[in-house]
Amino acid sequence: MAFLTLQGISKRYGDFTAIEQLDLSVERGEFLSLLGPSGCGKTTTLQMVAGFVTPTTGRIELDGRDITNERPEKRGIGVVFQSYALFPHMTVAGNVGFGLEMRKVRRREREERIEEALALVRLKGLGHRYPKELSGGQRQRVAIARAIAMQPELLLLDEPMSNLDAKLREEMHIELRAIQKRLGITTILVTHDQVEAMTMSDRIAVMHRGTIAQLSTPYDAYERPATAFASTFLGRTNAFAGEVLLRNPRCAVVDVAGTQLHVPHEGRQVDGAVNVYIRPEKVHLANGDARIKGHIATRVFVGNQWLLEVDTALGKLRVAQPNHGAPPPEEGDEVGLAWTDDDLRVLTQESRETQHGHA
Ligand SMILES: Nc1ncnc2c1ncn2[C@@H]1O[C@H](COP(=O)(O)OP(=O)(O)O)[C@@H](O)[C@H]1O
Ligand SMILES: [Mg+2]
Repeated sequence: MAFLTLQGISKRYGDFTAIEQLDLSVERGEFLSLLGPSGCGKTTTLQMVAGFVTPTTGRIELDGRDITNERPEKRGIGVVFQSYALFPHMTVAGNVGFGLEMRKVRRREREERIEEALALVRLKGLGHRYPKELSGGQRQRVAIARAIAMQPELLLLDEPMSNLDAKLREEMHIELRAIQKRLGITTILVTHDQVEAMTMSDRIAVMHRGTIAQLSTPYDAYERPATAFASTFLGRTNAFAGEVLLRNPRCAVVDVAGTQLHVPHEGRQVDGAVNVYIRPEKVHLANGDARIKGHIATRVFVGNQWLLEVDTALGKLRVAQPNHGAPPPEEGDEVGLAWTDDDLRVLTQESRETQHGHA
């Protein structure tokens, strides 16, 4: 049985439904991310697990016990919020030990657990400092140490790294994931940053308007998005509207602006109006074996790769080419493009879904 389960959870604020019939199971020791754009209901979901928001419908179980209406402090859950307010007048050790003191843990054990938690987040020896004497990243780690010192069964992190600069954030992703693995703490991370979710998670729940659009490993979320929303929210992709002409056993033949594409459907039902997707890094420049020709409209160098926009019969096609040394042809030049059919993906157009501007 899963360690944490949410069954039929909804949250309404007046007429507004923030969360709609959400089901989710998290395994013991798992690192799961709730990933989605601002306003999709990530924080609300996390707050219901923490006990600060009461669900309108549904049931939450932690390790087999019903916690739906249990008081937050009874749940044994550690929470690190985006604004991880430390007490400014208390030392680092004081901050980390605060909850333990409240719980009347005796001094010897308290000191041990503070030391341990600080060592885990690599702040050993900084216990005597005050928050204002620390960098942003160090303060962030104090907040995490404070949660870890309580030895929670479940750790909830709500955009805990959004205040850090990009480089530090990247380091924290790797460190935090290592700590989580070492301690085996079941963890749920809320984030709108897809790289963060992909780097750290065992599984990602892609959220869209109060529901889970997809729940899968990072690899599958990226390579096999289940909805148009998931396709465009995770990473960049090319999307072309088309019409299914024929459904063969393995692939669908799709007409896109007069060009026929053979797209594997993996057994899914696809007919009528569809979208065909292909990632920019799955399209490459080709000479003899080109599938299609086009003219380079824009060419941008970003260090590790070249980003091209090529005008083709399909429409504008984004191409990401690794920087292998020689620059690609210039803007205005004609190029041939190729791809592998297995890298195409087809999904029936969902009229309900809007295309968000993340493609
Ligand atoms: N207390 C509240 N009262 C009314 N609406 C709320 C409240 N809390 C959140 N919402 C709304 O619920 C939706 C989801 O919010 P939230 O869970 O904070 O999203 P996220 O964390 O994904 O950005 C938003 O539209 C938000 O405005
Ligand atoms: Mg939020």
